[in-house]
Amino acid sequence: MALPESFIIEIKERNDITDVASSYVNLKKRGRNMVGLCPFHGEKTPSFNIYTENGSFYCFGCGVGGDVITFIMKIENLDYIDAVRFLAQRCGLNMPEDGYDDSMSALRKRIYEANREAARFFYKTLYSPNGKVGLDYFHGRALSDRTIRHFGLGYADANSYSLCDHLRSLGFKNNEIVAANLAFQRDNGNIFDRFRDRVMFPIIDLRGNVIAFGGRIMTDQKPKYLNTSDTPVFKKSANLFSLNNAKNSGEKALILCEGYMDVIAVNQAGFQNAVATLGTALTPEQALLMKRYADEVIICYDSDEAGQKATARAIDLLRNAGLLIKVITIPDGKDPDEFLRNRGAEGHDAFKNVIERSGNDLEYRLEKLRRKYNLNQTEDKVAFLTEAVRILASIDSAIEQDVYISKLSKETEVSPDSIKQQMSKYQKRKRYSQRKSDFRNLQQNLSGRNDKINPDRYKKPRAAVAEESLLAYMIKHPDKLSLIESQLSSEKFQTEFNRKLYIYFSDRIKNGYDPLSSVSGDFTGDETARIFRIVNSEFSRIATESTLRENINVINDEYSKLKTADMATASDEDIASQLRRLRESHQ
Ligand code: GTP
Ligand code: MN
Repeated sequence: MALPESFIIEIKERNDITDVASSYVNLKKRGRNMVGLCPFHGEKTPSFNIYTENGSFYCFGCGVGGDVITFIMKIENLDYIDAVRFLAQRCGLNMPEDGYDDSMSALRKRIYEANREAARFFYKTLYSPNGKVGLDYFHGRALSDRTIRHFGLGYADANSYSLCDHLRSLGFKNNEIVAANLAFQRDNGNIFDRFRDRVMFPIIDLRGNVIAFGGRIMTDQKPKYLNTSDTPVFKKSANLFSLNNAKNSGEKALILCEGYMDVIAVNQAGFQNAVATLGTALTPEQALLMKRYADEVIICYDSDEAGQKATARAIDLLRNAGLLIKVITIPDGKDPDEFLRNRGAEGHDAFKNVIERSGNDLEYRLEKLRRKYNLNQTEDKVAFLTEAVRILASIDSAIEQDVYISKLSKETEVSPDSIKQQMSKYQKRKRYSQRKSDFRNLQQNLSGRNDKINPDRYKKPRAAVAEESLLAYMIKHPDKLSLIESQLSSEKFQTEFNRKLYIYFSDRIKNGYDPLSSVSGDFTGDETARIFRIVNSEFSRIATESTLRENINVINDEYSKLKTADMATASDEDIASQLRRLRESHQ
C-alpha cells in the first residue's frame, strides 16, 4: 500500500464509519457503540458491531471486521484502491496524483470501458443487416424494440474477430480484451471473440457499469447460455440481472426469476422489479444483496421439477437473510416468459392476478406436501401431519404457528392439542441436537484447530491470550510502547501471527503513525478481521496498566517454560548458554 498515510487518515476522518455503514445497515445505539443485523451474513439477532472510538466494525457472527475502507471493499465488492476512491468521492476529496500502485484499478476501468463499447457494438450489430437473425429471434420471442433498447440487447455475429477488431480500432489492448473475458487468447498470442452467433444480454451493476454479458444461442446447440466468467469487475455469485432496473421500481418486493428472458418478459409486461441470478443457483450473497433493496421476494421459478427444487433452496436462503417470501406457481406454461407470451396484451393483468394469489412460503410448502398424500387415508394423514409439523416448527412466530395448527386441525380432523403436542416433542428433539452441535462448534472454535490466521494459537492458548491483550493495550496506549519494549522483545512471542503484529505495531508507533490507520491496506481481509477482533474484544476493553504487567509476565513465563523444556534435548554447550541467559534475565 503506498497511498500517502495522511490521505488515508483524512479519508477516515471525513467518512465516519457509522455514517457510511448506516446507509447499508439499520443501526441502533448500544452503549458507546452501534449494533445491527450483519450485512455480510444472514441473521435474526444483531451481532454486527460498530466501534466509534476506533472507527472499526466487527461481526461476532461471521467474523468479518475492519475499518471503513474494509467495509466498503466488502459491501461494494471493490479492491482497496477503488474503495478509497469511492470514499474520496463520497466526501469530495481528489485522489492523489501518483505514488500508489493503481494498475489493478486502471485495468478495471479499461474493462468497464471495453464492456460498454462491446454492448454498444452488439446493439448496433443487432440493427444492421448482419444482425437480422438476432433481431428476428427477439421479435419472434415477442420483445418490442423499446424493450430491446431498454435492456441494451444485442447480437454477436458469427465472425470470430468482429468484436476484437472493433475494440482494437478503439485503442483497446489484447490483454484488456482478454481480461474482460470478451475474447480468448491462442497459444500464438492472437485473440478471438468469446461470444459468436449469439443474442446478447448485458449485465449492468448498480452504478450503471456494464460488468458482464450473457449470450444465448439461437439453435439447439449447447451451451444454450454462455456467461462471462468472473473478471476483476464481475463476480457471478454476487450480482443479479436487472437489479439496476428493479432498484428504481419503487416496489418493496423483488420478483426473483430463473432466467434473463423471464426478467425481460416480466418487465415488458409492466413489472420493473424482476431480477434473476446469472446462470447459477441463488447464493447467500445474492440473498443479502436483495435484502438491501427489498423487504419481500416473490419467487417465480419454472414450474418444472428443477424449478421447484430451486424454489425450496431459495426459500431457505431468503428466510435466513430475513426476507419475507411469496411463491408464485405459474398456472400454465413452463416459465413466466411463456406464461406472458401466451397471454399477449392481457399479460399484465394475468400476472398481477398470479402475484396476488401467491401464498407465503409456508403455504407453498404445505401445499406441496398435501399433494403427496391422500388425506382420506389414515396412514397418509399421519405421515402428512408428521411432516407438516416439522415445517411449522421451523418458523419463529407463535401466532403464525397457531393459525396453521388450527387450519391443519380442520383439514385432518385431528385435535389442535395433539398437533401441538407432536410439535413440541419435535422441537425438543431438535433443540437437543442443535445444542449438541453448537457445543461441538464452540469447542472447535475455542481449541482453534481451524485457525488459519494464527495456527499456533491453539497450542499456546495462555500465551496467545496474553499476547493479544497486550497488543490491544499497546494499540490503545501508544505512549506505553517504550515501557513495553523495555520488558518484552518480539522473540518472546509464542505465536507467529501475534509476533508479526507486535513488530508491525511497534514500528508504526515508533514512526509516529496512528497504529490502526493502514491495517486494511497492509493486511489481507482475513488478517484485518482478526486484528479488529483483537482490538475490539472484551479483554481489550478491560485492559489496564496492571493487566499489562500481568500479560508481560505471562509471556515471559511461557517463554522460559519453553526454553526449559528444550534443554532436555540440548547439548551441554547449549545448556550452559541457556543457564547464563536465564540467570541474566532474572537479575
Ligand atoms: P430460454 O430458453 O431462452 O427461455 O431461457 P430460460 O430462461 O427459459 O432457460 P432455462 O430455464 O433453461 O435457464 C434459466 C437460466 O439458466 C438462463 O437464463 C441462464 O441464465 C441459465 N442457463 C441456462 N442454460 C445454461 C447453460 O447452458 N449454461 C449456463 N452457464 N447457464 C445456463
Ligand atoms: Mn424460457
